[in-house]
Formats: sequence, C-alpha cells, structure tokens
Amino acid sequence: MGKKIFSGVQPTGNLHLGNYLGAIKNFVKLNNEDQNDCIFCIVDLHAITVAQDPKKLKDNIYETAATFIASGIDPKKSIIFNQSSVSAHSEAAWILSCVARMGWLNRMTQFKEKAGKDKEKASIGLYSYPVLMAADILLYDTSHVPVGDDQKQHLELCRDIAQKFNNDFNVDDFFKIPEPLIQKKFSRIMSLRDGTKKMSKSELSDLSRINLTDDKDQIINKIKKAKTDILQLPATSADLEKRPEAKNLMSIYSSITDVNLDDTINKFSGKNFSEFKENLSEVLIDEINPISNEIKKLLKEKSFLDQILDSGRQKADKIASEKLKKIQEIMGF
Ligand code: AMP
Ligand code: TRP
Repeated sequence: MGKKIFSGVQPTGNLHLGNYLGAIKNFVKLNNEDQNDCIFCIVDLHAITVAQDPKKLKDNIYETAATFIASGIDPKKSIIFNQSSVSAHSEAAWILSCVARMGWLNRMTQFKEKAGKDKEKASIGLYSYPVLMAADILLYDTSHVPVGDDQKQHLELCRDIAQKFNNDFNVDDFFKIPEPLIQKKFSRIMSLRDGTKKMSKSELSDLSRINLTDDKDQIINKIKKAKTDILQLPATSADLEKRPEAKNLMSIYSSITDVNLDDTINKFSGKNFSEFKENLSEVLIDEINPISNEIKKLLKEKSFLDQILDSGRQKADKIASEKLKKIQEIMGF
C-alpha cells in the first residue's frame, strides 16, 4: 500500500548538505515511488519562531521551493506549498495546543538548545513549535514523516498529541498515528569545523557547511579546510568511533556514493586525508553541482515558482480545510 508522506523544511536560508542527506534526498526517493502521496511544505510559520527579515524570508521561500524541485521532487507528482498560505495549520495548532501538556513540551531538547540560557526571552512560538508541527502532520492523515534525527522527539510528541485527542474525544483512529522515517545510517551530518556539532544553517562560519548553492571551487575549498586529525585513515569502524571529524567525512562519502561505511573504510584505509579529501570533493561536486545550477536557474523564474506554490496551496487547502472542519465538529464549535 502507498504511504501518505508529509514533511517540512524551514525557509531560513543556507540549505545545506545535512538537509539534503538527512531529509531532501529521501523526499526525492519517496516522490519517485509511484504508490505514495507526498506533500512537502515550506514551513514559514515555523521560521518566524525566531526573528526573520521579511525580505529575506520571501527570498528564502523561493530558494526552498527551487531546492525541492532542483533536487528532483516533481511538482506534478507531489504537493509543494507554503505553510502560511493554508490557514488551517494555524487554526489546528491552536486547538492542539489545548490538548498538548506543558510537561510534554518542557522535555523538548530543540527548544532548550535554541532558547539557550535566557529562556525568558524566547518567543512563545519557539516553545509551542512542535504543536504547530503536529498540526501540519495530522491535518493530512499522514502515515510517514521523513525527517533527520533531530526531529525524532517532535514526532513522538505529535504521536502523543494525536493519541490524547483520539482518547479525550472518544474518536478512535480520527487522527492517524504517524511513523517517523529516519534514515538509520546518516541521519545526522556534522559540522565540517567540529565533528561533535550538527551541520546547521545558523552556524556563523560558512566553512562549517556545504550549501546546496555552493559552486565547485567553494566545495573544494571547504573540504580542503574541513577539520581532521593527524592520523591516517582508519582500518576499522571501531577505530573511527573516537574520531568524530574523520567519521563525519567518511559518512558523507558513504552516503553520497551509496557505498556502506565499512567498504568506504576499506577503500581508504591507511591513506592520508589529502587523498581522501580529493575523492570526497569529486563525488560532492558530481552530486551538488547539477542541483546548485538548477537552483540558480529556477530562481530566475519566480513566476514559475509562484505557479507551483499556488497550485500546491489549492490542493493542500482542500485536504486541510476538510480535516479542520471535522476537528471543529468534534470540539463542539
Ligand atoms: P530545518 O532546516 O531545520 O527545517 O530541517 C529540515 C530537515 O533537514 C529536517 O528533516 C531536519 O531533520 C534535517 N536536517 C537538518 N540538519 C541536519 C543535519 N545536520 N543532518 C541531518 N539532517 C538534518
Ligand atoms: N521542525 C522541522 C525542522 O525544523 C520542520 C517541520 C515543520 C516539519 N513541520 C513539519 C517536518 C512537519 C516534518 C513534518 O526540521
């Protein structure tokens, strides 16, 4: 049976290799399986949980749409739309925020990381962010949610909210309980400057990540400067465990080439980083360059992107507003 897929990406700029290997590459695979219904959402309402410059937000929305398409998501097959263009998301999020418990949200590690030391100054939206994410997913009777490992806890919260709603209102199976689809092996790509921190859009140093819009020379330069250690490349995966930077670079190679990690280790065992890095740059350029060229081309065709987003909006709105209507009836509105 086909899967009902929903996932979201924040339009916060600098889409990078972590987003691609952890999430978008998987979106493309799911989009290509004939029997699936896929919805990919540009979650601008999530983006504004931290301050955004409105002009840049608009550009980043286009860039995210262009990245989806350039990576291989076919807008004729999958729905691509902008979260804020379908008002049911905000409305359902409010209702679900009356179902979710403070105690559940207090456990969310992403909030703790993003709010930092001064929690009092974080927006309320940043705190209730996972409830909006639950609304996104539940409005579409989603069966599977492809995400990177960092979103696993939010998915569990979404399942808890769905279950509590179904119990509280005695509506068995009204909300479908979604399954996460998290790649087992390379679900967390780390920074090129620090193998213990995840690759992130918001990291100040651009050298910490490969952006999907980077050109050939930028990729070569970033891989050349990527942090390593002084040892040669290891012979076994156990030897790799205490070497986070080496492990990250070898995992990236593995993931891009679809060769498992042990075979990658065998291939480069005993070699110097410089030789491995040349190989890594090459495979990265082969994969990323066509995408980055296509993104740049699509960004010159804003009216084409507008058309895709508008057609996606219409299709998403139909599904979401019907589900919202049922939610409202259940609530007694
Ligand atoms: P975001 O940019 O936070 O909206 O994330 C979009 C998608 O990329 C989500 O599914 C994340 O889990 C995934 N993602 C973000 N950063 C990484 C990373 N460093 N490694 C793997 N997946 C990631
Ligand atoms: N919180 C996700 C992230 O930052 C983005 C997101 C929003 C999402 N709504 C979603 C992912 C629904 C999957 C399903 O990566």
